[in-house]
Amino acid sequence: MPEYRSAADRKTILVGKTICRLAAVAPWAWPLIGKSVGRFFDRAAAGWDERTAAGSAGHLATLAAGLDSLEVKPERVLDLGCGTGAGTLFLAREFPRAGIRGVDLSESMISQAQAKIGLDPEGRVSFRVGDASKLPFGEDSFDLVTQVNMPVFFGEIARVLRPGGGLIIATSLGEQTPFSTPERLIRRKLASHGFGELNSGAAGEGTWVSAKLEGSG
Ligand SMILES: C[S@@+](CC[C@H](N)C(=O)[O-])C[C@H]1O[C@@H](n2cnc3c(N)ncnc32)[C@H](O)[C@@H]1O
Repeated sequence: MPEYRSAADRKTILVGKTICRLAAVAPWAWPLIGKSVGRFFDRAAAGWDERTAAGSAGHLATLAAGLDSLEVKPERVLDLGCGTGAGTLFLAREFPRAGIRGVDLSESMISQAQAKIGLDPEGRVSFRVGDASKLPFGEDSFDLVTQVNMPVFFGEIARVLRPGGGLIIATSLGEQTPFSTPERLIRRKLASHGFGELNSGAAGEGTWVSAKLEGSG
C-alpha cells in the first residue's frame, strides 16, 4: 500500500485550513457551509482509501501516537469525521471491549465505512451520518473522542466527553493537511474549554495533540 499522500494543491490546502479556522473560532457559522462540505466529501468518497491510503500505517501513525500519550482504557469511543472508517476500525482493534461510534457528514463516506463491518450482531462498532457541530449524543457519552484530518468543534467535544475523558486531534500530513487547525489555536481553544494535560507530537508525516477534559467524572 502506498504511503499516505495528499494530492491536494495549494488552493485546496488554503480552503481546507480556512474552513478549519472558521469551525474553531465561529462554530455557529458552520450551517452556512456544512452542506457544501458534505457534498464535497460525498463526491470524494469513491476511491478515497486508494487515493489517500487511509488505513495504512502512515495514515494511522498519529492516532496511535496520540493514544500512547493518553494511556486510556475507554469503554465508549467516538471517532469524528470518520470518513471510510479506517481510524474507527483501528480504534476497535485497539480497544476490543469498547463500543466505538464513527460519525461523518457524508452519506457516501458512511456507506463505505458501513460496508467494511457489514452486519455487526453485537453492535459494538457502528457508523452514522451526523454533524460534529451538533452531535446526536448526550452529555458525558464518551470516554475518548478522536478525529483525524477534520475541523475541530471544541464545545461539542467538551459536551459529549465525560470529565477525565481523553481527546486526540490528529493530522496525517501536518502542515500539508487541508483539514488541519494550527496547534497554537488548538491549544488555546482546549484550555478555554476546560481541557488539561495537553501533549503533542509528530509521527509519520503527521502531527497530533492529546488532552483530557478536566474533572474526575
Ligand atoms: C479529510 S476527510 C478525513 C476522513 C478520515 N478521518 C480519514 O482520515 O481518512 C474529512 C472528513 O470529515 C468529514 N466532516 C467534515 N466536517 C464534518 C462535520 N462537521 N461533522 C462530521 N464530519 C465532518 C467529511 O465528510 C470527511 O469525510
